[in-house]
Amino acid sequence: MTTSQDPRDVAPARGLETLDDEQRRGTGDMDPERFRAAGHATVDEIADYLANVRGFPVFPPVEPGDLRGLFAPRAPTEPEPVAAILDDVVRLVVPNTTHWQHPGFMAYFATTASGPGILAEMLIAALGANAMLWRTSPVATELEEVVVDWLRDALGLPAAFSGLVTDTASTSSLIALGAAREAAGVHASARGIAGRVEVPRLRVYASEEAHSSIEKACMTLGLGREALVRVETDDSLAMDVTALAEAIAEDRAAGMRPIAIVATLGTTSSTAIDPVAEIAAIAGREGLWLHVDAAYGGAAAIVPERRGPFAGWERADSIVVNPHKWLFTPLDASLLLSRRMPMLRSAFSLVPEYLRTLDRAAPVHDFNEYTPTLGRRFRALKLWFVLRYFGLDGIRRRLDAHCAWASELAAAVEADPDFELLAPVPFSTVCLRARPRDLAAREEDPEVRADLDDLNARLLEAANATGEIFLSHTRLRDRFTIRVAIGSLHTTRDDVLRAWEILRTEAARLRG
Ligand SMILES: Cc1ncc(COP(=O)(O)O)c(C=O)c1O
Repeated sequence: MTTSQDPRDVAPARGLETLDDEQRRGTGDMDPERFRAAGHATVDEIADYLANVRGFPVFPPVEPGDLRGLFAPRAPTEPEPVAAILDDVVRLVVPNTTHWQHPGFMAYFATTASGPGILAEMLIAALGANAMLWRTSPVATELEEVVVDWLRDALGLPAAFSGLVTDTASTSSLIALGAAREAAGVHASARGIAGRVEVPRLRVYASEEAHSSIEKACMTLGLGREALVRVETDDSLAMDVTALAEAIAEDRAAGMRPIAIVATLGTTSSTAIDPVAEIAAIAGREGLWLHVDAAYGGAAAIVPERRGPFAGWERADSIVVNPHKWLFTPLDASLLLSRRMPMLRSAFSLVPEYLRTLDRAAPVHDFNEYTPTLGRRFRALKLWFVLRYFGLDGIRRRLDAHCAWASELAAAVEADPDFELLAPVPFSTVCLRARPRDLAAREEDPEVRADLDDLNARLLEAANATGEIFLSHTRLRDRFTIRVAIGSLHTTRDDVLRAWEILRTEAARLRG
């Protein structure tokens, strides 16, 4: 095991330099004792990596195409010892990844592969269970029911919701909109919608800030991207409900069929919160499916004091929250809840003879019937592990801390006359830009606006080039915006303060 602070040190993989007996014989799997030794060496590598990850630049110093040539162009014909493979992981793979586990990773919404999550992933792989049917792993199915209930209760949602765990929010929203299409009564899963003159154009409504996965779901479901109506937003970048009601009325008048509204609670760019209670009232009045995309922001509802902005989401037909975003679970884990599970099943169930369960004493969940895929990972195990390890109070404390650091950063930005906050900060993501006083006074001038965009693009590049932090950008109200997304378990308050210091120092340097 390496104990050095240099994260590039290669661990001596003791006793693993030779082939094991099964490799030599060309039979079977890794020898059990060799597995034990290799497993210990791998866990040592993981522990060293996590302990020393801060020593890497968050984004590796590579250009596109630099890496392919480091790897053998063809698969090896002969077996190789584990030590050789592990050494190459340390030498070639680890230094060349973007370090999502780095405390300075504040770019896209964080994904923490927490210790308990990593251990659970090992167990999931070891069990190798496909959670497609109850009988292909009874405990995978029933533990999934349990953790879905745990999370639903923790989020403060009523027992009318049940659900499942999918890979990503993109899949969860695809399933939700598939169910919405089914609920519209056009029998699309059986008959399709192409070429059916009796089926009007179907419409889905989401704010102009909604995630691209909603548009992709429309593409995938055969509704077409044009089916998605992007409703304008107000000053806080939340959906304008008057515009929503008008869009629905106009579409109905034009002979189209509205089927669903997607409310986002925590948009990707700025974490804006659509007014879900008002949207739920419109959905109820219009008879539309309401899907809530709370992929990132939903985690905050685990903290009872932070539930205010979620009031009304309990009236949704479906909700997605991603534990692999802000609930410290390694990719992938997305919670899809619905109060209309039979509609999900009706949209996606297909049971050929070879998947039919003959010996059911009691009705069981065959979770594949609710998803476009058949094969499913045993994701419930890692959620069970993570929730038990941290406990709900432990999770609440961590979420609260992230929100507090974001508020502190937002206050510092607001107090700085050469910077500007570009959106409210309801959760743990801060949208900001440099706006030096002299330029601010002349911002009406299009050239000055372009200069500000250019300055902030260069600022982002310079901040990321330090290797200490990794931030991302978006455009808000046509302004180049730097996002500081706090949410990793490895990030501390000092890391957030350091990010702010880097931004200020680099902005001053760029302006000479
Ligand atoms: C609001 C929102 N919805 C959906 C997604 C897509 O998530 P996934 O990568 O799990 O599909 C994201 C990703 O950042 C998001 O921010």
